[in-house]
Amino acid sequence: MTTQLTWLGHGSWSIQTQDSTVLLDPFLDESPTAPVKSGDVVADYILVSHGHFDHIADVVPIARRTEATVVANFEITQWLTNKHGIEKTLGMNLGGKTHLPFGTVKLTVAWHSSQLPDGADGGNPGGFFLTLDDGTIYFPCDTALFSDMRMIAKGVDLAVLPIGDLFTMGPDDALEAVKLIEPKRVIPNHYDTWPPIEQDAEAWADLVRSQTTAEPIVLQPGGRVAL
Ligand code: NI
Ligand code: MN
Repeated sequence: MTTQLTWLGHGSWSIQTQDSTVLLDPFLDESPTAPVKSGDVVADYILVSHGHFDHIADVVPIARRTEATVVANFEITQWLTNKHGIEKTLGMNLGGKTHLPFGTVKLTVAWHSSQLPDGADGGNPGGFFLTLDDGTIYFPCDTALFSDMRMIAKGVDLAVLPIGDLFTMGPDDALEAVKLIEPKRVIPNHYDTWPPIEQDAEAWADLVRSQTTAEPIVLQPGGRVAL
């Protein structure tokens, strides 16, 4: 079976591999664009890129219900265990990788911030580079543009880039990121959730098509793509 990615709106993804379902940054119940609620999703693993509400809001209820293992930086996994009683966690730090049943997960650097919803220190923000049976995926998650993206992810099969601006890269910098990374395919996310981050994703895709070798894919929330 081919690995499938489903966009759950904003920066939230469900990745279905042959044997595992991996959630990334689930923000569902209070997201205006999420196609599902936190009570409806399945998960074996939950990856959390940083401590902000719009990435961690539904991690605790989903982890409790599904008993999924939460993979995040060490500060976030400690907070989940000590404050919320989530025991099945895997704490990492930037640059490290771990081999899990569905593939390899590397925690990559991101230029952003990471304070947790209660004001606790969420460590450093990160992104994820996944090496799966069917290919590689780079989720830089919430970040500014930085040139080391090329070193981290050059030639990746699929890059999932924020284009919302204001809190992350906007369309112009995301286009530069595509030029640096040279992914085979690229999907925009972290836009249109609220008015301040509304963007014309189709116009951005046209720029990617005309200025890079990457194939852009614009999804609607709930849309899916095979890796
Ligand atoms: Ni953020
Ligand atoms: Mn965010």
